[in-house]
Amino acid sequence: MRMYDLIEKKRDGKNLTQEEIGYFIDGYTNDEIPDYQVSALLMAIYFQDMSEDERAMLTSAMVNSGDTIDLSNIEGIKVDKHSTGGVGDTTTLILAPLVASLGVPVAKMSGRGLGHTGGTIDKLEAVPGFHVEITSAEFIGLVNKNKVAVIGQTGNLTPADKKLYSLRDVTATVNSIPLIASSIMSKKIASGADAIVLDVKTGAGAFMKELDDAKQLAEAMVSIGNRVGRNTMAVISDMSQPLGRAIGNALEVKEAIETLKGQGPKDLTELCLTLGSQMVVLAEKATTIEEARQMLEENIANGKAFEQFKIFLEAQGGDAGVADDPSLLPQATHKIELPANTSGTVSEIVANDFGTAAMMLGAGRATKESEIDLAVGLVLHKKVGDSVKEGESLLTIHANDSDLDKVKEKLYQSITITAGSVDVPSLIYDRITKK
Ligand code: URA
Ligand code: CA
Repeated sequence: MRMYDLIEKKRDGKNLTQEEIGYFIDGYTNDEIPDYQVSALLMAIYFQDMSEDERAMLTSAMVNSGDTIDLSNIEGIKVDKHSTGGVGDTTTLILAPLVASLGVPVAKMSGRGLGHTGGTIDKLEAVPGFHVEITSAEFIGLVNKNKVAVIGQTGNLTPADKKLYSLRDVTATVNSIPLIASSIMSKKIASGADAIVLDVKTGAGAFMKELDDAKQLAEAMVSIGNRVGRNTMAVISDMSQPLGRAIGNALEVKEAIETLKGQGPKDLTELCLTLGSQMVVLAEKATTIEEARQMLEENIANGKAFEQFKIFLEAQGGDAGVADDPSLLPQATHKIELPANTSGTVSEIVANDFGTAAMMLGAGRATKESEIDLAVGLVLHKKVGDSVKEGESLLTIHANDSDLDKVKEKLYQSITITAGSVDVPSLIYDRITKK
């Protein structure tokens, strides 16, 4: 087989076979095929697309390029949730104990990564004592015992994706549905989940800014998942404004606690119930979405989800006392209000820019080496559609630095107050299931 022929074939819009896709992925992972030929193939895929079969074959080849996690010693159907990334997305912290409280095993492997705030692990580490440095055997033991545990990334998962993603980054081929879908799905599948719920975000703070693109990506990922034998569903949700009210690590833990007690923000609660009910159905603990949702609502109302969160924290060394007293979480030195400079209705809160503001405070990592400040971030008092009076606080800035002029300027630029009426964006745009 020759890489030249594969490039030519894809350039001319023909479909690649399983052997050809395997040849290209293995050869690239093993440094036998040079970047320039892979770049040409990626560009051909960008223009010519891939069939649903090709996408599934590409995903499987990437899964097979490295280690895979074996969760077969965990009883039950392991359902994982993946979000394409947003600002102030606190859902994992809530969903893990919530669905576990219904007996759904949650074996969460998570990274730290770059972003506006830390990842799930960083957020959880805001709880004093909580740690994810456990062995695979301990991890599996904890999920069997408590139905929920979190571990840091282990093993050499999908090395092909790592190489391809770096190459796409410098060859203008990131933005391709078959390449994005196979990249995300390969990582989920290698992590060992039996079933997958996807939260595909759309809007200013999302990777997919347009609803139509988000829908295409969701359909592509659902198709791949089901073709490779993992029951997969997707929700398309709004990320034009930040989710919930808190953006920041400890602040989001507090928000998760409130939500698990039934006192969380409306949008965050609704998204958790929507994603959670899909997880419960895929885990075969309920037959319909409606039934699953009712079960979840019940476990919030009767305190079981909240209790499950404490069990989860304690099992990994965390001080479960924070659940009853969130003031035990790291606190910022300065809490500064941002007053509205006019009266009216909030018409826009640009999610991405609010994420950047949180990062300027130190809530996220700019480079892999950056230190995160777990205490800092933003808490919104107003969301799109809320009315506000001049001088009233729009949000509280939690900071350890007192020089906030740049952050304040960024925030004022990213929030719009208008005199007229305002369309509040939908939270859930669509649900995508197997065709
Ligand atoms: N996230 C991924 O993991 N892969 C992509 O290709 C794009 C976003
Ligand atoms: Ca939030």
